Amino acid sequence: MLILGASGGVGGTAIQLAKNVGATVIAVASAQNADHMKALGADFTIDYKAGSVADAVKKVAPDGVDLLFDAVSGDTLTQSLTALKPNGRLISVLNDGKALHLPAGVRFQHVMTQPSVPDLDFLRELADSGKLEVPVSATFALADVKQAFEQIETKHTTGKVVIVP
Ligand SMILES: NC(=O)c1ccc[n+]([C@@H]2O[C@H](COP(=O)([O-])OP(=O)(O)OC[C@H]3O[C@@H](n4cnc5c(N)ncnc54)[C@H](OP(=O)(O)O)[C@@H]3O)[C@@H](O)[C@H]2O)c1
Repeated sequence: MLILGASGGVGGTAIQLAKNVGATVIAVASAQNADHMKALGADFTIDYKAGSVADAVKKVAPDGVDLLFDAVSGDTLTQSLTALKPNGRLISVLNDGKALHLPAGVRFQHVMTQPSVPDLDFLRELADSGKLEVPVSATFALADVKQAFEQIETKHTTGKVVIVP
């Protein structure tokens, strides 16, 4: 499985959920976050600033990946599509797929978060049993919510931002 944006709040959770079901995970973010992604369980890390992500994937998975999970989109997604196996699967939390030229055979899904008590219970059980951690990069008071959103808007947050009342 290839995860784009794997050091962020979404991608870091994706690494852990994938490892919990036995996937081999190739995680993509900048080099400074390689140790963070490995600590969450990534088997391999790729720096998207160091060249073609697809070429780097082929070095560790010459036949391609079964699943590409996208939490970044843009150029990194476009140039990573060739890393998918012919009948692979693409899931994006950002891209609706309309502008993507997907190889024939690739199954695509655009996922939006839905409030779900069963899903939250599933995640809580994983957290309670030590199989899921939520790294917190910064905590802000409610009065500082503007700074919290400015941090989120950088699109370079490692882990989650927490706002406390
Ligand atoms: N569909 C939904 O329901 C849903 C739900 C939640 C979030 N989202 C969206 O999902 C996206 C990710 O959310 P998030 O909270 O995880 O964001 P985030 O915490 O800001 O994480 C983004 C991560 O992506 C990495 N990154 C930035 N540019 C990259 C690139 N070109 N290639 C690979 N990695 C790159 C960054 O790593 P470096 O700092 O190392 O560059 C950063 O760690 C956001 O756009 C958010 O709006 C969608």
